[in-house]
Amino acid sequence: MNAERIAHELDTRWAGREIVLLEQTDSTNRHARALAAQGAAHGTLVLANEQTAGRGRRGRGWISPAGEGVFLSLILRPDVPPAQAATLSLRTALAVAEAIRRETGLDARIKWPNDIVVDGRKVCGMLLEMDATAEVLHSVVAGVGINVHQMQFDAEIARTASSLDLLTGRRISRTALIRAFLEEFERAAAMDDETMMRTYRACSATLGQRVRVIGLKETYTGTAERVTDGGTLLVRTDADGALREVLAADVSVRGIMGYA
Ligand code: BTN
Repeated sequence: MNAERIAHELDTRWAGREIVLLEQTDSTNRHARALAAQGAAHGTLVLANEQTAGRGRRGRGWISPAGEGVFLSLILRPDVPPAQAATLSLRTALAVAEAIRRETGLDARIKWPNDIVVDGRKVCGMLLEMDATAEVLHSVVAGVGINVHQMQFDAEIARTASSLDLLTGRRISRTALIRAFLEEFERAAAMDDETMMRTYRACSATLGQRVRVIGLKETYTGTAERVTDGGTLLVRTDADGALREVLAADVSVRGIMGYA
């Protein structure tokens, strides 16, 4: 990967106008948060060819072998109160799904809250981390990991994960994918809330599906009915038909038949 090649013909105003490309780092999210704390500009992109301690959601890791995937973190300084930052996670998912569709032609869909799946297999995960007080949002780091060239996966994710090369049968360009993501991110960030939610819902792999909600204390099944503007999922439970609100941090939501 080469920062000049990404910047070449990049059609954005602010996303990726500064690029920090690292051969290896522990985690681009950690690196980006440190840069944000030092005042890095809105839209600064941190990229790594390899991560030695990639971070995933809910305390898990993200396997990030050299040259195999896209491992990036985008530094954002949105001018909104912390409570309104929830839509950023939905907007990031939308941007990645669009970028994958654009560069591969695959039917990339969003598994709530923001995994990207193709044919029921996960090809991308996201981890957004916020630096905020109760009133002031200083920065958000949107971390995105996309499986691009991987040909095999560790046993525990082998049945649920895939890569863009495996799914298309050709070699997908990481450079083109990153450029598409930055352009789609600007587009998603500029959408009014209603358009964004409509587009998100149209791209969802979860809505209308029967799901299993796996929480810390309980597990239940139901039908995923709606994603709220705040990014929570409303599930109609099988047990009593009540509508329950599911927060992304609390649970894992699985399809009844498999991962998605
Ligand atoms: C998930 O658990 O699905 C989220 C995975 C997020 C991984 C990406 S890779 C780039 C960025 N840096 C990190 O340490 N994590 C995110």
